[in-house]
Amino acid sequence: MKRTKIDMALRGDAARGDILVKGWVRTRRDAKDFSFLEVNDGSCRANIQVVADAGTDGFSYLKDMGVGAAVAVRGELVASPGKGQRWEIRAASLTLIGKADQESYPLQKKRHSDEFLRTIAHLRPRTNKYGALFRIRSEMAFAIHEFFHDRGFAYVHSPILTASDCEGAGEMFRVTSLGPQEGGLPEDERAAKDFFGKDAYLTVSGQLAAEVFACSLGDVYTFGPTFRAEHSDTSRHAAEFWMLEPEMAFADLGDDMDLGEELLKYLTGAVLTRCAADVELFASFVDKDLPARLEGIRDRPFERLPYARAVDILAGCGKTFEYPVGFGLDLQSEHERYLTEVHFNRPVIVYDYPKEIKAFYMRQNDDGKTVAAMDVLVPGIGEIIGGSAREERLDALERRVAERGLTMDGYWWYLDLRRFGSVPHAGFGLGFERLLMLLTGVTNIRDVIPFPRTYRHLEF
Ligand code: 4AD
Ligand code: MG
Repeated sequence: MKRTKIDMALRGDAARGDILVKGWVRTRRDAKDFSFLEVNDGSCRANIQVVADAGTDGFSYLKDMGVGAAVAVRGELVASPGKGQRWEIRAASLTLIGKADQESYPLQKKRHSDEFLRTIAHLRPRTNKYGALFRIRSEMAFAIHEFFHDRGFAYVHSPILTASDCEGAGEMFRVTSLGPQEGGLPEDERAAKDFFGKDAYLTVSGQLAAEVFACSLGDVYTFGPTFRAEHSDTSRHAAEFWMLEPEMAFADLGDDMDLGEELLKYLTGAVLTRCAADVELFASFVDKDLPARLEGIRDRPFERLPYARAVDILAGCGKTFEYPVGFGLDLQSEHERYLTEVHFNRPVIVYDYPKEIKAFYMRQNDDGKTVAAMDVLVPGIGEIIGGSAREERLDALERRVAERGLTMDGYWWYLDLRRFGSVPHAGFGLGFERLLMLLTGVTNIRDVIPFPRTYRHLEF
């Protein structure tokens, strides 16, 4: 007999004479003549209650079916007389699939801190909270593909191994096939001897590949892991994170902002309708304002304002910030959060940033001072999306690169896009973990990714 997932079993609208479920024991209660097991198989937040008595096959193994043990239960799905669940299983037979030693199993029935659960990242998805989190993560990845598929965007697989630093920020991890004994070679010899005959890195962004494909397929997106050797040990930065990067041909900054806003509204709507039980858990235990905030993001227009106005608001608001505010200075997360949480109390799109603080590929505005960049800022997080119109004019791009002291060696193909049929195009990057923080109210990026990689942390 095939197993039925607990989600399906609990959703059913009729009793069933014979059903098989498999999962892990969350709790066991023994009464005089029978025992109750709460079994969870990860398919949904709810457990299924199992009632077993001396007549149940395998009843004698029940003593080993403690918290964390893997079990199979076959029996009858019947209406539950108990509160809070519609169905339960009256067990005909119980099988112990995998024991869990009760003395050493770390997940006992109490609330554990997030810090502790990070030290057992291999077991934390078995808790209610992390089960809910990772189901939401999966649903949202799917919803992203659906959003773009519905709009005719092609999915492009940008490479992970690269020789180019897309952001020009020098935060790249180098990749080598040289053994440790070859590490002492002089710089030029080392690179020449390495696998590719030159230095190779893990990508910080799939944007350049996305631009190539936007300038051929029209509307595209990449969605995959990206890597940054961020030394900053913050709750919003990881060394390995997932980024979604759409790129549109024949599009300007306005189109880019529209797409970002539409996407965030779609995803907040999707999480509210498709993951209602899991969102409810976060509303009950993590952040009681979560549902109202998500509904606000879904239903109310975002605020849009130029960087210069954002600076005026910050400079005139009377609040003392740790970092200075002024035209030409980058917005820090405290500034971003003031704008979105306090001043506007909704998502905010800041655009037209000074060119000095933004990447070389952003399109220069006619004022000569700013570029057509935009960041989407959301409550609790700050920047969640960063994007821009791209500099599609060859001479302007070359000037920007020179101003920055960068070289375009190795980027001949990127410049070719500006030589042959160049078109205005625009795109952005959405940090997938920051999206999950927004959707769940979880405040540390380490708790929304299966196995976090951060400065000095590489376990599991
Ligand atoms: O603003 P960023 O650096 O933009 C780019 O990489 C562009 N190439 C994207 C594009 O236009 N195609 O990063 C985009 C987003 C940020 O807004 C943030 O949400 C996320 O990626 N992000 C990080 N998330 C987690 N950990 C980090 N270290 C992150 N760095 C950026
Ligand atoms: Mg950015």
